[in-house]
Amino acid sequence: MTDHHPDPSAFWEEFYRTKRTSSGGRATGALQRIADRLTPGLALDLGSSHGDDVIWLAQQGWQARGCDISATAVTRARARAAALGLEQQVQLEQRDLSVSLPEGEFDLITALYLQSPVALARATILGQAARQLRSGGHLLVLSHAAPPPWSRDAKPSTIFPTVAEEMAAIGAPSRDLEVITAEVVTRAARGPEGTEATLEDNLVLVRRVLA
Ligand SMILES: C[S@@+](CC[C@H](N)C(=O)[O-])C[C@H]1O[C@@H](n2cnc3c(N)ncnc32)[C@H](O)[C@@H]1O
Repeated sequence: MTDHHPDPSAFWEEFYRTKRTSSGGRATGALQRIADRLTPGLALDLGSSHGDDVIWLAQQGWQARGCDISATAVTRARARAAALGLEQQVQLEQRDLSVSLPEGEFDLITALYLQSPVALARATILGQAARQLRSGGHLLVLSHAAPPPWSRDAKPSTIFPTVAEEMAAIGAPSRDLEVITAEVVTRAARGPEGTEATLEDNLVLVRRVLA
């Protein structure tokens, strides 16, 4: 939390209204590689932004739900889903996940770069998400392991977790949660002024063991 933005909802609203005004339009690569191997069912994306990942999941046959604290991001994601004729397959909701997650159990829950320079009960959210997996369901957590070299946003309040911290938040491994992947992966990225860099992400995939 910063002095300038004590309220996460206000911070992310301003972010979407002024800084990130349009969708990247592409689903996250790691999600595509992993979900391609899964049988579609009911999915929930935590921090769904403009809906790129939710929409991609719906296009692969998933019933896809997304939540984001920013009403602007949710409105834009809904409009994109509607424009693609995916109203039946996609459900988007404005929600502060630090307060609660949607009720129910899911076959796939994703938290893709669910990171914030303002208050976010991230560990609680990930732990709760793990408890809401159906038998055989997967939780995919992808997070920046460090800020990019061009970022001026490396404030102490920004959370860059380790894989071990992600696992602790999720509560895995355990009798109920099998760890499929828990590693640091790299990807090539280009900064705002064309600077190229190799970035490190934490990639954690766990599965609720079959009951
Ligand atoms: C770094 S962005 C990542 C967005 C998207 N998942 C992606 O991979 O591009 C973090 C997202 O989490 C959302 N967010 C932050 N705090 C939240 C909260 N408490 N509840 C719900 N969403 C939140 C933000 O609005 C933002 O869309």
